[in-house]
Amino acid sequence: MTQTLTLRRPDDWHLHLRDGDMLRAVLPHTAAHFARAIIMPNLVPPVVRGADAAAYRDRILAALPEGSDFTPLMTLYLTEDTEPDDVAAAHASGLITAVKLYPAGATTNSASGVSNFDKVAPVLDRMADIGLPLCTHGEVTDPEVDIFDREAVFIDRVMDPLRKRHAGLKVVMEHITTSDAVAYVRSAGANLGATITTHHLVINRNHILAGGIKPHYYCLPVAKRETHRLALRAAATSGDARFFLGTDSAPHTDANKLLPCGCAGCFTAPNTMSILAEIFEQDGALKHLEAFTSLNGPAFYGLPVNEDTLTLTRTSAAYPDHIDTPEGPVTVFDPMMPLNWSVSRD
Ligand code: DOR
Ligand code: ZN
Repeated sequence: MTQTLTLRRPDDWHLHLRDGDMLRAVLPHTAAHFARAIIMPNLVPPVVRGADAAAYRDRILAALPEGSDFTPLMTLYLTEDTEPDDVAAAHASGLITAVKLYPAGATTNSASGVSNFDKVAPVLDRMADIGLPLCTHGEVTDPEVDIFDREAVFIDRVMDPLRKRHAGLKVVMEHITTSDAVAYVRSAGANLGATITTHHLVINRNHILAGGIKPHYYCLPVAKRETHRLALRAAATSGDARFFLGTDSAPHTDANKLLPCGCAGCFTAPNTMSILAEIFEQDGALKHLEAFTSLNGPAFYGLPVNEDTLTLTRTSAAYPDHIDTPEGPVTVFDPMMPLNWSVSRD
């Protein structure tokens, strides 16, 4: 039986760090394990221009624990007013690694997102020219579409037409939750990748809704039925280079989760690596864990893999059920299973 597993240091290709006190409270949990992370721009107000991203990056770097070598990979929030030249300059200077598309109204702080895709066509063309990836929140916002169908409908109505219109654009389908998305990614070429979260490998919609409502399992896209979870697990553990880790770790205080209209998001930064080791072991795929957490993402983004390593040791791992922040407690995702792999930096 494998007792220790040394991986190239992992990266998180989709992360919410927030700002201010919350940023300072959650960042150390990611920086303890991950070398880099794609930082989501859905602040209030959002990170829309290069200058906003530069200022946010400086706030993140200032919030890092002493001696940390964590690198935030910044993104811009795509709006219908985004200027191609501003995006190109931010990319050319090395400031940004991707641009994020939120359909207007799809999720937390997405009001400035895109409704009319004609308006963003010039930016997307420019991004295709310069090789800058588009990260997508793939859900339609049409109130007529059932929330459990919004990802599959997005693929047909938005994703496929967008990729045909902007051939050559690198696209990441983020936090995929359906077998439809897995099949779509498998059918596409190397320009399409997908991130998968830790929590979507663990929970299905019963965990949110059966036997009482569990707000801490509510996130967007919402977890789907079990067949979809199994398709995500098969994709993540397969080693297929088009699938890689994006935790979508999204801290909200308990006060904001436990409301009549509570926020969407699961906070998985502290225990993600232990949970993933457990899942990959359960599926007989520990040999593919490094591909999912540390190799496939850099390959898609055209970045070098990390030189340093992280070691997983087969010994019981304990995590707090919440972290304290100046804004209030934030519940850590409960994987509902013992964790038998603990994590150490080498
Ligand atoms: O669950 C989610 N939380 N999904 C998102 O798309 C946004 C995120 C957040 O910012 O809280
Ligand atoms: Zn997210």
